[in-house]
Amino acid sequence: MKVVIIGQGYVGLTISAFAGEFFEVVGFDNNSKIVEQLNQGNSHIEGVESYTLQNWIKAGRYHATSHGSEIKDADIVVIAVPTPLTSDRKPDLGFIEAACKTIGENIKKPVLIINESTSFPGTLRNYIKPAIEKYSTSIIEHLYAISPERVDPGRGDFNQKNTPRLFAGLTPEACAKTREFYSKFCNQLFEVSSPEVAEAAKLFENTFRQVNIALVNEFAQITNALGISVYETLDAANTKPYGFMKFTPSAGVGGHCIPVDPTYLAAVAEEHGAPATFIRRANEVNLEMSKYVVDRVQEENAGSLQGKNVLIVGVAYKPNVADIRETAAGLVIKHLRDRGAVVSWHDDVVGSWHGENSAPLSGADIAVVVTKHDDVNVRDILASAPYVFDTTGKVLGANGL
Ligand SMILES: NC(=O)c1ccc[n+]([C@@H]2O[C@H](COP(=O)([O-])OP(=O)(O)OC[C@H]3O[C@@H](n4cnc5c(N)ncnc54)[C@H](O)[C@@H]3O)[C@@H](O)[C@H]2O)c1
Repeated sequence: MKVVIIGQGYVGLTISAFAGEFFEVVGFDNNSKIVEQLNQGNSHIEGVESYTLQNWIKAGRYHATSHGSEIKDADIVVIAVPTPLTSDRKPDLGFIEAACKTIGENIKKPVLIINESTSFPGTLRNYIKPAIEKYSTSIIEHLYAISPERVDPGRGDFNQKNTPRLFAGLTPEACAKTREFYSKFCNQLFEVSSPEVAEAAKLFENTFRQVNIALVNEFAQITNALGISVYETLDAANTKPYGFMKFTPSAGVGGHCIPVDPTYLAAVAEEHGAPATFIRRANEVNLEMSKYVVDRVQEENAGSLQGKNVLIVGVAYKPNVADIRETAAGLVIKHLRDRGAVVSWHDDVVGSWHGENSAPLSGADIAVVVTKHDDVNVRDILASAPYVFDTTGKVLGANGL
């Protein structure tokens, strides 16, 4: 069985690493630098070990390519390309369209096509299938399925094997073949009655997080106004053994999923005349959190940030990964610079970002902790500036939310 995985990023490479144990995998990516690096056995994704890739390469079970001709004899094709928002914050299916073009133009026999990219309900049926048919030079009866990806890069306790996986196909045969494929490397599979249910479930999972994060971010502002500790209050609420799930405040949400996926759900809801008020408001609250953080820092520094050397500690969107997509650090830095602060950042996991490099963790007037990686020492953070504002709840002894 030859499995082609289109997109070798966080999702696609993770699947490649697991599938490589059982299948011949071709990782198709249109970024030739990534392809070159992968063919040398170097992983660029946290949680995918280079030695795993090297093992599969040696065994002849993995190679990466940018050439459409190398995917033509696939049996299964998995789509794992980005699904971002356009500049006016609408779903952008441009990468999916390009992946469909690659499939349509190169695959000339019926195969199983599984979408793992996150998108709104109806994407598989009304968008992917027609797009592949549009780009195919003849009529081919492919099997179509969806299995939304739930990977949490950098997480140790849950991976492809022990994270239950949803799936659905457009036909019973597509369902059966999809089950067969994933059951090789995933312990628990849940078939749902339609691709739309699987697509909507994925969006709702991330919307649940987005709304609850917004709620706790608002709550942090309320507790601060009341002069009580948000963390102590959350811990107190969390002693209830049912009906409560603890979320913690932050400078905002980041990554490819939480700031983006709920907007896919809101867009499809509004298209169908259904309300998406929670989603829209949660998005605003999370985006406004960066301003609230900078307001607090300014207030607690005699009302002015003009000329102050401010060090952001951690710019990745979450701990222990180098991913800076949609990171809240971006907005925090913008607000600080708008108020005349001289901003640098320390994050050796990220290394370089927007043409700037990670600065030493010392010598600032003010430090603002946005992301606390495990290998950054709390004592070093506290020593980096006379005033430290922590948005993570992990730097005991600092000021903060
Ligand atoms: N990162 C996560 O934690 C996560 C978790 C669950 C679901 N998802 C979803 O999975 C999908 C992929 O996300 P990701 O984080 O892996 O993205 P990514 O940016 O890490 O990787 C995408 C890869 O696809 C490649 N690519 C783009 N267009 C291509 C094309 N036309 N042909 C071939 N390669 C192409 C890019 O070069 C890149 O290497 C998205 O829909 C995302 O929402 C991501």
